[in-house]
Amino acid sequence: MAKLSIEDLKDFRNQRVLVRVDYNVPLDENGGITDDKRIKATVPTLDHLVKGGAKIILCSHLGRPKGKRDPKHSLRPVAQRLAEILGRPVAFVDDCIGEKVDKTIGIMQPGDVVLLENLRFYAEEEKNDPPFAEKLARNADLYVNDAFGSAHRAHASTEGVAQIIKKRGGNCVAGFLMEKELKYLGGALSSPTRPFVCILGGAKVSDKIAVIENLLTQADAILIGGAMAYTFLKAQGFGVGSSLVENDKLEMAKSLLGKAKGKTFLLPSDHLQATKPTAGATTRITDGPSIEDGWCGVDIGPETIARYNREIASAKTIVWNGPMGIFEIPEYSKGTFEVARAVAGNKNAISIIGGGDSAKAAKKAGVDKQVTFVSTGGGASLEFLEGKELPGVAALSDK
Ligand code: 3PG
Repeated sequence: MAKLSIEDLKDFRNQRVLVRVDYNVPLDENGGITDDKRIKATVPTLDHLVKGGAKIILCSHLGRPKGKRDPKHSLRPVAQRLAEILGRPVAFVDDCIGEKVDKTIGIMQPGDVVLLENLRFYAEEEKNDPPFAEKLARNADLYVNDAFGSAHRAHASTEGVAQIIKKRGGNCVAGFLMEKELKYLGGALSSPTRPFVCILGGAKVSDKIAVIENLLTQADAILIGGAMAYTFLKAQGFGVGSSLVENDKLEMAKSLLGKAKGKTFLLPSDHLQATKPTAGATTRITDGPSIEDGWCGVDIGPETIARYNREIASAKTIVWNGPMGIFEIPEYSKGTFEVARAVAGNKNAISIIGGGDSAKAAKKAGVDKQVTFVSTGGGASLEFLEGKELPGVAALSDK
């Protein structure tokens, strides 16, 4: 069912708009923001609300403080960065519910922006506790969800609050970022221009079982890399040496390989193997798909890179989620970066990078600006690719 979008709101002047954003940004050891992509990605929604004279109340989580107030997880530095980005003041309230919040919102003027403190300082947030959601909702006439990265969580600020505001007759709508995420990821799954090629990597098959199962029904080709490839190869009887393997998932890998019969489901045909999965180890390229005893796989090999690049070059829709090797270590980053460059280099395709590690890798390879869309969601984009309905989307008002 299509959901109401921020563009469907006609007049919201003077209205108190509660906006759930995902400002769960990476911080360095001094609390400095190391990547503000998630903050910048909300600017179109915030500019639109400012222009229309809304009173904008932003709420988010940061990290996993597990219901405890922890200064290391305060959103205060985010308020400062957002003010710089927006070029207007952003007031910060060091709580997300209660008297201080009520008072601040009570004196807001049209166009004012307030950021509330980390929702997860209350355990009730993750429990989707109804009284907590009531407290969040009490100062809001409308609700905008622009937090795609958190939409797979059925928490008070993503689900409970929307149900309450809807019951009161208020609209709950998707922000511009949320819309864009659903448009690109949703479009790739529901009506891809073919050939539709998916590249899946990462350490564990267990994280991607449901994604593979869903994509096997939609994609024209699936290319597998990263340590999860070793579990598939072991399930086929190839040697994996001391590579990272999920031995308890071998039967599952066999069953996925069975489902993939007759489809283009590619596994690495060679690897970069190393004596240890750490920097500075001795390395060599394998002769075929097997990894030798005493060695472990750390990246896909040159023949695999060439095969995968050919598939990527012929695609019209590409979704990439998960690195091909230990790309954080420069000697083992070639496969991941080559795939990133091939994805970005195919200008005939809609190229989508699922968030998390592949987004980091695309940035490190210097090609993140050359792909069609980089998702801001990690877990959320994975659950979306699994074909699941995200609770934060389901809770919004129907069109
Ligand atoms: C993310 O970074 O993937 C989102 O902000 C969700 O965070 P969570 O996994 O702690 O719920």
